[in-house]
Amino acid sequence: MGVKLGILGLGTVGTGTVQLLQDLNGRHPLLREIEIHRVGVRSPQLPRAVELAKNVLSTDLEAIVNDPAVDIVVELIGGLEPARSLILKAIENGKHIVTANKAAIARFGDEIFTAANKAGVYVMLEAAVGGGIPVIQPLKQSLSVNRIHTVTGIVNGTTNYILTRMQTEGSNFSDVLADAQKLGYAEADPTADVDGLDAADKIAILASLAFGGRIKLQDVYSEGIRQVSKTDIAYAEKLGFVIKLLAIAKTLTPSPSSPSSTPPLSLRVHPTLLPKEHPLASINGVYNAILVEGEPLKQVMFFGPGAGAGATASAVSSDILNLVAALKTSTANPNPLLSCAHQDYCQIVP
Ligand code: NDP
Ligand code: HSE
Repeated sequence: MGVKLGILGLGTVGTGTVQLLQDLNGRHPLLREIEIHRVGVRSPQLPRAVELAKNVLSTDLEAIVNDPAVDIVVELIGGLEPARSLILKAIENGKHIVTANKAAIARFGDEIFTAANKAGVYVMLEAAVGGGIPVIQPLKQSLSVNRIHTVTGIVNGTTNYILTRMQTEGSNFSDVLADAQKLGYAEADPTADVDGLDAADKIAILASLAFGGRIKLQDVYSEGIRQVSKTDIAYAEKLGFVIKLLAIAKTLTPSPSSPSSTPPLSLRVHPTLLPKEHPLASINGVYNAILVEGEPLKQVMFFGPGAGAGATASAVSSDILNLVAALKTSTANPNPLLSCAHQDYCQIVP
């Protein structure tokens, strides 16, 4: 069975994903079956860092989601529209979805998952939170027996990169933001990063997974890092603290006057003074970390590069492979741990 991909977007993440899939091709048993059938962009005249077969590139994204040959739509254009409509159309057409689009999932997750459940298709979103860090799948599966009470994360690479450079080099906010944009970390509109909105989208998604139920974005308080000055950072340092943009989802104890079976949640994003010994205090640069606390596990922390082409491509490509494996369950390797992309390094010695 060949699996055909329709990739929407060939920017930072799209290019990284195509590069990774092409690099792995022939070395991974599942990837041999995957074909990059169509790739949708806005400006076909732009130079591209990847080579694609003739006629693969297109500006007609609707045609891609309507193409009967496409099995999986990989949505990497970002933003709300046309991303939402394209995802919904693809689902209606019976296609599985892989997306990195936290803005669309945080706002339209209900609509998208309801449609996907009705159509019987998968929606995979590992890249939507924490870039390359596997955190969505663990929250959905390996941690699902825990009663989680707090999720605390540094979930925006751009702002952590900016704060780190302001702290370690005394750099100016605007210079470092420009660097984060050049490095492909920032959103198309970096306001979403700087004002805490991207982190709010991500904590809403994490909270939905950790606590169940639907989180409304308007319930997430968000404040960004525009007001954080070099002086604030220097004073914090003298007092033994660092300033981090934290995204927090926490269960609160229900008040005795309004007892409820589901404890209320506090959801917020804001710059926070963290003691230097705190596990999140040493997460620097574009790295993200998500600390999950609950019972009986107590604490687990996920840590890794939170943005950028390679890291995000890792998450997107893993979603694609997991999806292909799930679609092939009858013949899939029942021991996926033994299936390695870099087989040169994974010979199993008898
Ligand atoms: P880019 O802006 O680099 O790329 C967007 C791509 O989508 C471009 O190829 C662009 O075409 C295409 N595109 C955008 N709008 C349209 C449209 N209306 N019609 C056709 N093509 C369109 O974004 P990123 O790759 O950085 O981000 C993609 C997604 O991944 C976003 O949802 C983002 O939030 C998410 N993400 C990004 C990460 C990162 O580190 N950058 C990390 C994790 C998630 P063209 O090239 O012709 O302009
Ligand atoms: N702009 C985002 C960030 C990309 O800086 O974290 C990863 O989601």
